[in-house]
Amino acid sequence: MATGTVYTAAVITMSDKGAQGLRKDTAGPAICALLEAEGWQVVHTEIIPDDAETIRRTLVRCADELGVCLVATTGGTGFSPRDVTPEATKAVIERECPGIPEAMRAESLRITPRGCLSREAAGIRGGTLILNCPGSEKAARECLGAVLGALKHGIDILRGWDSNCASETHHHSHHGGATE
Ligand code: MTE
Repeated sequence: MATGTVYTAAVITMSDKGAQGLRKDTAGPAICALLEAEGWQVVHTEIIPDDAETIRRTLVRCADELGVCLVATTGGTGFSPRDVTPEATKAVIERECPGIPEAMRAESLRITPRGCLSREAAGIRGGTLILNCPGSEKAARECLGAVLGALKHGIDILRGWDSNCASETHHHSHHGGATE
């Protein structure tokens, strides 16, 4: 990571009930807290309904006008007919980043067999990474936690802040009792 760099983020909650003020959003604030604990600067938060056009417009505004490094979304990734966040995300990204949702689902499957039901997508639009997280606070925490440690490095490469992967710090959190 380049010194003095500010990693900015927007956190967008997709929820029909949340947007109407009928349900308190706890996943969005949980994502903000996780990001801020890792040194990200959350510059924008919003709760919007599960409407494809609204989602696309909001993601484009965050990427193109706010110019944040990361847009983290929560909600709209399940099987309900109103869950259209991955489709709206794929419509506005230029390059998909399948490894990120793969890692999230791999971690989720360690926790629950239902982890395979979450349809998150991730991809790049300009200098912005757009990343879907599940809708429940618990699942959002678990999924973001599985990939958060890699995201700043991705932004560094995306923005040309660091072209050197060799300086990578390796985290082996699951090596289970090294004997060598
Ligand atoms: N992933 C994690 N890490 N933890 C969870 O508790 N819940 C699952 C799954 N993924 C869960 C999870 C359940 S019950 C469902 S129905 C799907 O996510 C879809 O949820 P979503 O609509 O929040 O994406």
